Amino acid sequence: MSFPKNFLWGGAVAANQCEGAYNEDGKGLCTQDVTPHGIVGPRTEEPTEDNMKLIGIDFYHRYKEDVKLFAEMGFKVFRTSIAWSRIFPNGDEETPNEKGLQFYDDLFDECHKYGIEPLVTISHYETPLHLAKTYDGWVNRKMIGFYERYVRTIFARYGKKVKYWLTFNEINSVLHEPFLSGGIYTEKDKLSQQDLYQAVHHELVASALATKIGHEMMPDAKIGCMILSMPTYPLTPCPDDVIKTMESVHKNDFFGDVHVRGYYPGYMKRYFRENNIEIKFEPGDEEILKNTVDFVSFSYYMSICETADPAKQTKGKGNLMGGVPNPYLEASDWGWQIDPKGLRYVLNYYWDRYQKPLFIVENGLGAVDKLVEKDGVMTVEDDYRIDYLQKHLLQVEEAVKDGVDVMGYTSWGCIDLVSASTAELKKRYGYIYVDRNDDGTGTLNRYKKKSFYWYKDVIATNGEALHK
Ligand code: BG6
Repeated sequence: MSFPKNFLWGGAVAANQCEGAYNEDGKGLCTQDVTPHGIVGPRTEEPTEDNMKLIGIDFYHRYKEDVKLFAEMGFKVFRTSIAWSRIFPNGDEETPNEKGLQFYDDLFDECHKYGIEPLVTISHYETPLHLAKTYDGWVNRKMIGFYERYVRTIFARYGKKVKYWLTFNEINSVLHEPFLSGGIYTEKDKLSQQDLYQAVHHELVASALATKIGHEMMPDAKIGCMILSMPTYPLTPCPDDVIKTMESVHKNDFFGDVHVRGYYPGYMKRYFRENNIEIKFEPGDEEILKNTVDFVSFSYYMSICETADPAKQTKGKGNLMGGVPNPYLEASDWGWQIDPKGLRYVLNYYWDRYQKPLFIVENGLGAVDKLVEKDGVMTVEDDYRIDYLQKHLLQVEEAVKDGVDVMGYTSWGCIDLVSASTAELKKRYGYIYVDRNDDGTGTLNRYKKKSFYWYKDVIATNGEALHK
């Protein structure tokens, strides 16, 4: 018993981290255009030259070459996002930007040319900047209407080309990075819990509404939620640690629970009561939330620990939210603790909880790569990346043996791109090396890494090659 026959192997990117062309063909500014240092530095008023995302890896102009390389690896699926501000430059216009729409038509056609199914994230950390500045992003209920217009537009346009949709990337990350994730312009330390959770409510309603509309407009479509997963283990068997862990896990499960069950769970109502948070439900919201997803997708990079002991409450580094470091695990160069078994654990956890097909839509190792010449060809000997991916995929296989329904796996940054958290290009994830450096130098040429051939073999053998 191994990977299912129709397993969707592929790779994932996001528009803002690879496309570049930040102001071409009518595109408006998005939140990423003013965050040259990701979440680790201040945002700017205007786009600045040191912002690597303005050019990205120039995917906007080079996508044909890149899709061809994905096809050479045997991708069945390619996950990318639509940049909202290419379609609605400000976000609140009545009519869409035709040139933006055309770009994704061409991109999806190019994927289909090779039999690659697009998997599209509707909103991936790239809210139009105007919506952030004028409305304070998702804090404002008007965002539901703007998002609805946007999804109706893209569903109408791409309904025949795109079968798999994700409503919001890592929707739970808004709790940790309100600007990046929710386009909330108010500074994080000035944002009240009331406003933050009201924004969450608006996103949850918008997501359910998109699911409803999507099902009506595209009967064959599969629409999923997307969660930042980070298994959280109690630091010790002390019952206080176990309860504290349960409570912090609930904060993230809230998002999947609403998407799958269609209503607010009791533990969250308690949290709101005890913290004087009153979520404003408009008439009809409860009904909308009942439009539940077809599958649950998630990112997985690492796990963390939790403790009730204030003296042990240290915070390690991690994907948008750190946690108490696990003494049993090693970390990547960026301090993210590596835990392949955590992937089997989280697959089982979600399957037990939701009984919905699961899709791993992000997983990978951010590392510094060195371009070298081997047998007259430029390449990267990225055995460390192969080791990381192989160990994780073997745990996916274990979960399949456990009876978990896993639809597919798209590794993150299948081609090098700009990091979301630090906005660096030197944090590379790809099977394909892109010659571009953080000082702006580089030819933008593409080179196949050793992992390119490894992944190609894994896909061609439907996972058998993992046992070589
Ligand atoms: C996820 C995001 O949080 O992690 C991606 O969905 C991001 O956009 C990925 O790139 C890896 O994080 P980073 O910070 O290394 O780019």
